[in-house]
Amino acid sequence: MSLRIALTKGRLEEKTLTMLETAGYGTEKVRNKGRALVLADTVHDLDYVLVKSNDCITYVDHGAADLGVVGKDTLMENEEASNYYEMLDLKTGKCCFIVAALPEANLFSKKGRIRIGTKYPHVAKAYFLSRNMDVEIIKIDGSVELSPLIGLVDGIVDIMETGSTLRANGLQVLDTVAEISARVIVNKASWKLKKEEITQVLSDLKKAVDENA
Ligand code: PRP
Repeated sequence: MSLRIALTKGRLEEKTLTMLETAGYGTEKVRNKGRALVLADTVHDLDYVLVKSNDCITYVDHGAADLGVVGKDTLMENEEASNYYEMLDLKTGKCCFIVAALPEANLFSKKGRIRIGTKYPHVAKAYFLSRNMDVEIIKIDGSVELSPLIGLVDGIVDIMETGSTLRANGLQVLDTVAEISARVIVNKASWKLKKEEITQVLSDLKKAVDENA
């Protein structure tokens, strides 16, 4: 039975394709995709779709894709989707969720309600709730680091990879919320119906992860 894999485009794309290639998969059509949206593997009986991170979960959660490769950040933010298993840590695309602010903000000692800017409201809310802090979360869609610089918020919860965006803007890391990396998720029904094929893909990818270690 043929498999469909949803890949996350953008930040994880190159790393995921390299890992698939190390695992012996044929991703030429993904690399030369033009405007095509469904792309066949040139070695194995499966195809790929390249989608935004939230959509990756949506396609797998509804079974339109059997497997997905998506960041742990997106999985943590979308906890309500539950029709999949998280089955493998690809140990690539590593970064972390951090809390950051300008040094003068005194974020953790500030009295009263603080404002936090983030692309990840669910993650941010859970973090401050666990610290019994009263926060107002303001959803920002991009360049989150801007929001404390011009006075919209007191601090941010965001992803840090190299840390250069924070440094370039004078923001200080105050805490690490979670470590992030790319994960393979599998639709629950697909796991029942196509266990053999999926196990093979997972085992190929696991070998590639071990080779990279
Ligand atoms: C992410 C994140 C930070 C930046 C961190 O944004 O939200 O802004 O990368 O990377 P660094 O630690 O290597 O500097 P992304 O590039 O995905 O774009 P966006 O802010 O427009 O969403």
